[in-house]
Amino acid sequence: MLCFFLLCCLSSATCSEALSRQRRSWIIDSFTIEEEHPGPFPYVLGKVNIERDYRVYFDLYGEGVDEEPRGVLSIHKDSGTIYVHKAVDYEERTMLKLQFEARTTDLSIDTKLGVEITIQDINDNPPHFQKDLYEISVKEEDVQGSHLLTVVASDRDQKGTANSTFHYEIKAVSPNTPDTEFVIEKTGAISFKGCLDHDAADMFTILVEAKDHGEVVKLSSSTTVVIHVQDGNNHLPSISGQTGSGKVKEGEIGFSPLRLHVTDKDTPHTPAWRARFTVHADEGGHFIIETDPDSNDGILKVVKALDFEEGAQRELSISVENELPYFSCQVKGKRSSGLWIVDTIRDSDPGAAQPHSVKVIINVEDTNDPPVFSVAVKEATVEENTPIGTWVEKVTAVDPDSSQARDFVYKVGNDPAGWVTVDPHTGDITTVKTPDRESSHVVNDVYTVLLHAVDKGEPPMTGTATLQIHVTDQNDNTPQPVETYLYVCMSDDPIATNITAFDLDENPFGGPFTFELLGDVRGKWKLNPSYGYTAGLVKEPSVYAGPHTVGVKISDTQGEFGVYNLSVTVCDCSVTGNCRTRRHSATRAASGAIGIVFASLVLLLCKTRCCYLSVVLLYSRRLKLMASGPCPALQLISCGPAIDFKLKWVSFF
Ligand SMILES: *[C@@H]1O[C@H](CO)[C@@H](O)[C@H](O)[C@H]1NC(C)=O
Ligand SMILES: *[C@@H]1O[C@H](CO)[C@@H](O)[C@H](O)[C@H]1NC(C)=O
Ligand SMILES: *[C@@H]1O[C@H](CO)[C@@H](O)[C@H](O)[C@H]1NC(C)=O
Repeated sequence: MLCFFLLCCLSSATCSEALSRQRRSWIIDSFTIEEEHPGPFPYVLGKVNIERDYRVYFDLYGEGVDEEPRGVLSIHKDSGTIYVHKAVDYEERTMLKLQFEARTTDLSIDTKLGVEITIQDINDNPPHFQKDLYEISVKEEDVQGSHLLTVVASDRDQKGTANSTFHYEIKAVSPNTPDTEFVIEKTGAISFKGCLDHDAADMFTILVEAKDHGEVVKLSSSTTVVIHVQDGNNHLPSISGQTGSGKVKEGEIGFSPLRLHVTDKDTPHTPAWRARFTVHADEGGHFIIETDPDSNDGILKVVKALDFEEGAQRELSISVENELPYFSCQVKGKRSSGLWIVDTIRDSDPGAAQPHSVKVIINVEDTNDPPVFSVAVKEATVEENTPIGTWVEKVTAVDPDSSQARDFVYKVGNDPAGWVTVDPHTGDITTVKTPDRESSHVVNDVYTVLLHAVDKGEPPMTGTATLQIHVTDQNDNTPQPVETYLYVCMSDDPIATNITAFDLDENPFGGPFTFELLGDVRGKWKLNPSYGYTAGLVKEPSVYAGPHTVGVKISDTQGEFGVYNLSVTVCDCSVTGNCRTRRHSATRAASGAIGIVFASLVLLLCKTRCCYLSVVLLYSRRLKLMASGPCPALQLISCGPAIDFKLKWVSFF
C-alpha cells in the first residue's frame, strides 16, 4: 500500500518529484495499483494530504471513478484517503487518469490536481504461440544446420520486463533417433544436426515450449511441430536380371527382345525408386529403353530396323539411374557445440559411385529380303501396231540376302491389256499383243506395267518395279462423224446443218478433214464449208420433207478416209423453227411431266340403264391410251342396274 503526502506549496515546481508539470495542470503520479489484486476490498491505496489551516473537502473524478472502469476508486471526503474497490487488469489498461479537487466550505475550489495511477503488471500471461500445430515437409537431403521453420510466440505482460520475456525450448522429440538432433534458436528458428533418414524416421513430432522469466512465477505454453521427411534417393538401383530372347529379326521395328529387372530399396513409385535406363554403344541408334511404370523394368525396344548383313550380333551396355539424384548422409561424429561431423555423398560429387550397368548381346536373325530392282520406275517406247514379239525393255533386280532365297524370277505383275511378257531369268520384256495407242488402257500415250521379282524364300518376297511404255502414234484410224442422224428444216431457202468429225489418231494423223458428198446429189445437197472439223451440209429447196440418206467421205490430213451414210430427216420447222427442238418438245410433253397426273374420266353410257364411272389415276405417258378410245377399254366398272355409282381409283405404275 502506498502512501502519498502532498506537503508543500503547489505553486513551486521544486518541492516534489511526485509533482510534475504536464500541459498546464499539476499531476500526482506516485500511486500504483497492482493488477489482479486478490483483495479483500476495499483497501487503502493512499492518502492525499494538503496542509491547510482551514477545512477542505476532497473529491475525485475520471477513470476508475465515474469513467470506465467505474467503481474502482473512491476518496474519503474529509480525510483524503483513496480506497480501491476491485481488481484491475494491466493488459486492459496500464494507467488510470483522474482529477483531484479540494474545496473550501463555501465550495469554492481550493486546489485542483491531475492524478495518474499506474497499474502495475504481474506475470499473469504465459507466452502464447501463433499456432498450436506447425507442420512441414522437408527433403531427406537437406543438410544439417539448414533452417527448417520458425515458431513464434508472444507474451502480453509488460514489455521489457522479465514477466514478458521468454525463451523457447525443445521439450520432446518423437521418435528419438540417434542421428538427428533438433535445435531451436532464440528467434524460434528450428534446425537440426546430423542427418535426416526417411528409413529411420519418416516423421518427427517435436514439442516446443515457450517459458517467461517472471520473478515470482514463470508461465509457459507449448506447441507441436510435425516434420515429415520425404524419401530421398539414398539407394542406388541395380540391374538384377534379364528376360527375353535377346533375338531380333532383321527389318523388324517396335519389337522388344529384352527386359531388364532392377532392384531399388527406396520407397516404390517415388522418383527415388523409378529407374531411368540408358543404352550405350548403340551405333546407328537402333534401340531405346523404356521404364515399365509398374515393375520398374527396363524394356529394350528396336526403333530402327537392324540389318543382318551389317552384323549378326550387337553388344550394348545398359546403365540405370534414378529420376532423383543419389544422396546419402552418415553421421561420423558428434560435437557438444556446433554441427556434427557428417559424410554426405551426391551424384554430382567427384568420385561418386558410377551407375550400375550391364552388357547385353542382341542377336540379329537373318530374314528373307525381297529382291530390289535397280530402277524402280523405268521408261520405254514402243510404236503402236508393232508386231508381236517386239523387244521393249530389260529390267534387272538383285536379292540382298546373303544366304537363303537368293534365287528369284521376274514376273509380270499388272498388265491391264495383257500386252507384254517378261523372261523370268533375264528380265527381257517383249510384246505378246499388238500395242494400240488408242486403247483405253493408255493414258496420255503411256501404258503402265508392274513387274515383280519374286524370290524362292519361305514365304517368298517380292520386289516391284514400274515400266512406263510410251506408245507412239500411227495413222491407223479414219475420221468419223460425231453423229450420223441429222435434221434439216423445210425451207424455200438453202439451209445448212453441221457435220462434225473426229479422228482417234493424233496430229499429224487427224484433222482438219476434207468432206465430200458421194452419189448424185446435184440440185439436192452440197457442202459449205467442206474443209475443217465441221462441214456444213446445205439442203437445196428441191428436197422435200421426210427421211433421206446422204453418202459422205471424210479424209484426214494424210488422205486416210472413211465413208458413211448419214440419215438426214427433213422436217417442217414452221412451228418451233427447228426439227430437233420440235422432236424434243413432243417427247417432253408425253413423258416429261414427272409425278402423278390426276385425270378423271366420266363416261356415261345410258343405252342399257347402265352407268360407267371411271376415275383413273395415271402417269402422263398412259394418257394417250386413255384418250384414244371413246370409252377406256382398260378400266370400266359396271355399276349395276340401278342408278348406282361406284368409284374406283386405278393407279398405273
Ligand atoms: C512481475 O510480476 C510479478 C508478479 O507475478 C510482480 O510482483 C512484479 O512486480 C512484476 N515485475 C514487473 C517488472 O512488472
Ligand atoms: C455449225 O458449225 C459452225 C462452225 O463450227 C458454227 O458456227 C455453227 O454455229 C454451227 N451450227 C449449228 C446449227 O450447230
Ligand atoms: C450406203 O448405202 C448404200 C445404198 O443403200 C449401200 O450400198 C452402201 O453400202 C452404204 N454404205 C455404207 C458405208 O454403209
